[in-house]
Amino acid sequence: MERINQIMEHPVYRYHMQRIEEAEQNRIFCRHGLEHALDVARIMYIQVLENHISYKKDLIYAAALLHDIGRSEQYERQIPHHEAGAGIAAVILEECGFEREEIDRITEAIRTHRNETAGEPASLNELLYHADKLSRNCFACKAQKECYWEPEKRNQIIKD
Ligand SMILES: [Fe+2]
Repeated sequence: MERINQIMEHPVYRYHMQRIEEAEQNRIFCRHGLEHALDVARIMYIQVLENHISYKKDLIYAAALLHDIGRSEQYERQIPHHEAGAGIAAVILEECGFEREEIDRITEAIRTHRNETAGEPASLNELLYHADKLSRNCFACKAQKECYWEPEKRNQIIKD
C-alpha cells in the first residue's frame, strides 16, 4: 500500500481535502472527507473479496480516496466534481507511481462514479458507484427531510 500512503501525504491531495473540510464545516448533508473515502475503499474491497474479483488492492483504494477530490472545485467554481476530480486525480496518481493504464482506469471510474450504469458489472466504475451509495448511513441521518436523494435510493436499512 506504499502508493496509497503517498497519495495520503501528497500536498495536492491534502490541499483539496482541507478545502473540502472547510467548505463542508456547516453542511448538514453527507460530507466528503477522509472518513467517507475510506468507507468507500473498504466497501469496494469487501465486494472484491466476496465476488472473487482480481483487482489490486491499491487500485481500489486509489479510486476510492480520490473519487470526491473535485468537491471543492464544485463548491467554489461550480465545476462538476466528477470532472474536476478526474483531472486532479491524474496529477496525483502520476506523481505517486501509478502507470498510465492504471491512471486511465481510475480517472474513468471517477468521471463516471455518479452514473448508475457505470461500466460493466464488477468493473472499477461499477464497484465505485455502488460502494459510494452503500457507504451512506441514511437510517441514522438527521437531514433526511431536506435530502435531495430519492427515498427509494436511500439506505433505510443495512443492505447486502
Ligand atoms: Fe462519494
